[in-house]
Amino acid sequence: MPNSVLVHSPATLSNLGCGFDVFGLALTAPYDTVRLTRSSTPGIRIQHLDPYNLPTDPQQNVAGVALLALLKEVPEAIGFDVEITKGIMPGSGVGSSAASAAGAVVAANALLGSRFNKMQLVDFAMEGEAVASGARHADNIAPAIFGGFTVVRALQPTIDIIALPAPELWVAVVHPQIEVKTSDSRKVLPATVPLGLAVRQWANVAGLVSGFLTADYELIGRSLDDYIVEPARLPLIPGLAEARVRALAVGAIGGGISGSGPSIFMLNNTEETAQAVGAAMGSVFSELGIEFNVYVGPVGTQGAYVVSEE
Ligand code: HSE
Repeated sequence: MPNSVLVHSPATLSNLGCGFDVFGLALTAPYDTVRLTRSSTPGIRIQHLDPYNLPTDPQQNVAGVALLALLKEVPEAIGFDVEITKGIMPGSGVGSSAASAAGAVVAANALLGSRFNKMQLVDFAMEGEAVASGARHADNIAPAIFGGFTVVRALQPTIDIIALPAPELWVAVVHPQIEVKTSDSRKVLPATVPLGLAVRQWANVAGLVSGFLTADYELIGRSLDDYIVEPARLPLIPGLAEARVRALAVGAIGGGISGSGPSIFMLNNTEETAQAVGAAMGSVFSELGIEFNVYVGPVGTQGAYVVSEE
């Protein structure tokens, strides 16, 4: 069994328009890098090799909390030394905390002879999400572990994730450098939903799953719309409406807020279109005088994976 492993854990899109807290999609980049080394000294010791000044106390760190949850199920007296290099900027809305937590439990599992299945790894990693956002949600964790397109069908009484293949899609993400805390963007959501809106939303949910399974890009495009969550969050993300108009004008299939924002994603059927869409969305934030990053890449078919082991 290896003593030390290096894992890459990808950014992920959650919600995917209509599927609040349910849908997720793995990207290929950016990604976090997690090195885990097995130790005979119990406990978790965390070092961050990046400039973000994230907590290193395992009880406060998303990867630390996830590893502590995993270690509760391990009878041996072992510990882990953890080095995390964040390639995904914290607070960007593309699953930064999920990537670190997922990467850590995938690495630990590799050091423990793969004794846990992916559903269990999601369960451990989700403890990290609870620390990061105050809500135990798995819509970023699931694609970060399973890859592809994921549906969180239930968290209770037991976790139930459906992992589906995604058709070939190119994703363009623009990350405007504005702060939108997940906890704040959950507070603006309506407590109840009129039945008529709910009907339109779950019709889109069914349409989007069908579109993914049949690689019907037009169906995907017309099913992405979110009638419930995005309208409430729209005021938190200046430029969102215009970014969508410009993205669709240069050929995007469709998109919306990435997770709880502030990033915006658009799905595209070619790399060339995705590049044009990224530039079109970026132009909106240039004009608003807001700094931004653009990421373009294919959907990731695998979640966090071991790159090397010693
Ligand atoms: N589904 C969550 C939300 C994702 O939209 O609040 C948060 O990253």
